[in-house]
Amino acid sequence: MRDKLRVGFVGTGGIARGNHIPAWLALPDAEIVAICDIDPRAAALGAEMAGVEKAHVYDDYEKMLESEDLNVVDVCTPNSVHMPPTVAALEAGCHVFVEKPVAISADEVRRMIAARDRSQKLLCVTQNMRYSDEALAAKRFVDAGGIGDPYWAKAEYLRARGVPAWGSFIDAEKSAGGPCYDIGVHVLDLTLHLMGFPEPISVSANTWLEIADKPSVMQHDPKKYTVPEELAVGFIRFEKNICVSLGASWALNATGNQNNVSVYGTRGGVQMWPFTLVKEEHGMMLNCTPQSLGKKGLGGHAEEIKRFVEAIVRGGKVPVPPEQTLITQRILDGIYKSAREGKEVAV
Ligand SMILES: NC(=O)c1ccc[n+]([C@@H]2O[C@H](COP(=O)([O-])OP(=O)(O)OC[C@H]3O[C@@H](n4cnc5c(N)ncnc54)[C@H](O)[C@@H]3O)[C@@H](O)[C@H]2O)c1
Repeated sequence: MRDKLRVGFVGTGGIARGNHIPAWLALPDAEIVAICDIDPRAAALGAEMAGVEKAHVYDDYEKMLESEDLNVVDVCTPNSVHMPPTVAALEAGCHVFVEKPVAISADEVRRMIAARDRSQKLLCVTQNMRYSDEALAAKRFVDAGGIGDPYWAKAEYLRARGVPAWGSFIDAEKSAGGPCYDIGVHVLDLTLHLMGFPEPISVSANTWLEIADKPSVMQHDPKKYTVPEELAVGFIRFEKNICVSLGASWALNATGNQNNVSVYGTRGGVQMWPFTLVKEEHGMMLNCTPQSLGKKGLGGHAEEIKRFVEAIVRGGKVPVPPEQTLITQRILDGIYKSAREGKEVAV
């Protein structure tokens, strides 16, 4: 019988314990054998959940990589701490699964891709929104030609009063960006995934920091808010006359939270929530809501991690290659640059 993949974690905070550790524990081909977190409490909680003994709990990922014989490293640290452990783990001969946003600059993503190429290991980025049943169904519809050629999309992840209070989201030193990085990246990635990752040309964007001190349903401390924006809005031009409008907020005087991805094409359209396919048939425009979405996956993180393990074990492509997230990161960099410079910028 084949040995199980030996998995180590770097960062066992909220998302690691909430989603990644349970997903790995459910997989027969893998076992979590080591944990690293600079916060002893997070490390202890992660180790307890994953069943990792104290001797294999670290506060320094370099030491973990030296001491443990790992096949896979799962990186769940704050945004500014994604690139260094990813590169170190690849250099130590491990496959890497790393949280979103993949990094805090396109240059960092290029360094991660170069390390992957040197190591000949696999590098996969968490973009769990692609693996909801709705997103999987939308992708099948689009890939089968259901909407024809996509040319415009709206990607919105707007929270009315949803500034996060846990983790390091509002700390610029650790997160580098606000909702644009945190939740904008989810809907932008899903939109580009549905559109087949067209090549971006330019971005025109604005960011605002006006009302982040209003009470959030998550009860954040406004004094700790140092990221550059609470709202980012951008218009992105791509080759082949394709455009995307993006909005991401943690605080906005909207009627409520508004999350959606809508992609419009030459033959039809698709909207994620509520899930609706738009088609023209027999001289009628039809809004179609499926009775069932067909084959169901494990959902979000669990489905993506399962597919990542299949790519390692059977050989094949990772579900979310960093070449795609490099395109997303170039756009996110462009949004902040355009907002700072007050003009459209090349991506
Ligand atoms: N995909 C999603 O839906 C989703 C949801 C939440 C968070 N995230 C992403 O996951 C990442 C972590 O977010 P979180 O909510 O778990 O934050 P968190 O603060 O709860 O956890 C991060 C952990 O990393 C640890 N850490 C920091 N520097 C370290 C280092 N050098 N070595 C080892 N450990 C270190 C911290 O001590 C902390 O325990 C972020 O990039 C965030 O964007 C993704």
